[in-house]
Amino acid sequence: MPKKINTRAAAARICWQIIDQGRSLDAAMADYIETQQPSPQDKGFVQEVVYGVCRWHGELEQVAKSFLRNPIRKKDRIVHFLLLVGLYQLRYLETANHAAVAETVQACKQVNKVWAKKLLNGCLRNYQRNPVDVSDPITLSHPKWLQEQLSQAWPNHSLAIMHANNQRPPMCIRVNAMKHSRDDYLQQLNEHDIQSEKDPHSRDGIILNKPVGVTKLPDFAHGSCSVQDTAAQQAAEFLQLAPKQAVLDACAAPGGKTAHILERLNNDGLVHALDVSEQRCEQLTSTLQRLQLNAGIYTADASTPPSWPVPEDGYDRILIDAPCSGLGVIRRHPDIKHHRKPSDITQLSNIQTALLENLWQHLKPGGLLLYMTCSVLPVENEQQVKRFVESNNNAIVMNIEHPCALSQKYGVQTLPGVHSMDGFYYSLLKKST
Ligand SMILES: C[S@@+](CC[C@H](N)C(=O)[O-])C[C@H]1O[C@@H](n2cnc3c(N)ncnc32)[C@H](O)[C@@H]1O
Repeated sequence: MPKKINTRAAAARICWQIIDQGRSLDAAMADYIETQQPSPQDKGFVQEVVYGVCRWHGELEQVAKSFLRNPIRKKDRIVHFLLLVGLYQLRYLETANHAAVAETVQACKQVNKVWAKKLLNGCLRNYQRNPVDVSDPITLSHPKWLQEQLSQAWPNHSLAIMHANNQRPPMCIRVNAMKHSRDDYLQQLNEHDIQSEKDPHSRDGIILNKPVGVTKLPDFAHGSCSVQDTAAQQAAEFLQLAPKQAVLDACAAPGGKTAHILERLNNDGLVHALDVSEQRCEQLTSTLQRLQLNAGIYTADASTPPSWPVPEDGYDRILIDAPCSGLGVIRRHPDIKHHRKPSDITQLSNIQTALLENLWQHLKPGGLLLYMTCSVLPVENEQQVKRFVESNNNAIVMNIEHPCALSQKYGVQTLPGVHSMDGFYYSLLKKST
């Protein structure tokens, strides 16, 4: 994105990259921010539109179809995405309609498609005159295979899950207990006019009434808090941590849970944090630097024999925050709906099995292993643990509970949107010998 372009052209280009070209939303947004250096307002607007189009893509496509006599040609896909950007604004945003139409039409010139001005102007004005309704916009905005898997796994909850997937999630933060009490930090937020309240479902959590940029959070740069969903904050809780323990966080980057573990240990324990990706290990390093915490960070494949220095008698605690489909965090990453394929799940499930089998050998007798994912599919969760427990008779399933989670045979599952949490699965296993 070399030359300066308006926000509508930028949003359309990013959506095109995500939906047609398979680029991740985070990468496309980061690229936009680096090359265009937008003002905070422009960045916020582009982000809102990009997330919105990714969330409501199926519905917007249906609406677009009803105003187009013929589909827009493949080589002009950017025009098609401009149309979706225009429709999203008219349907979901409070932007003045005339500005939404005028700016979107104006963007045609910026993407070198001046010819399309008339087409876009016509479609968007037609929509204003006749804002068509689409039945079932929520299911329309989920791929068929995902609808099927959700209704098979959660027959009584699948519609609520899909509804939650399309909502804007709350911004949740975790106070660094080594630096502040939650009450102190809440007061600091209020002094900075950031309306927020204690998270009733996590010990260190605060929920903001409205999302803000992290640089607005008091002393964020020096580690006073981290952004982390309530459901993700349960990992440190379930691990039953105590000072001096040897803890392995096996899939650790970018380090949200490693940091929480260290905060709980008051930086007093041996923590090893692994990740297979070198680039993500760099993010992990900077997370811990910002929070002024120390861990042994190793770039390593945790599903194979250790290339990192395992303590002689093993670990007291192991966390496997396994690579997974991410189908429990779609509201925060709506591009997942566009990128995930059923075949990915088989592949991920094989990695999850290998991680469990390999890491179990490095847990001390009497130690605890917490297996977790941000997925809502049983194949990555209950079925994974069931198979493991059935083939390892020294694995004891421990009882864990959370008021917002559904109890399962081997663990607990939070569902997206229930008490405004993300969808996470947790299972806690104890090694008997
Ligand atoms: C769900 S994310 C972890 C998020 C992290 N625990 C946090 O709280 O910030 C899963 C991570 O597992 C890593 N990963 C995937 N396969 C791995 C493997 N075989 N060994 C170690 N890490 C792996 C991925 O690179 C990714 O960073």
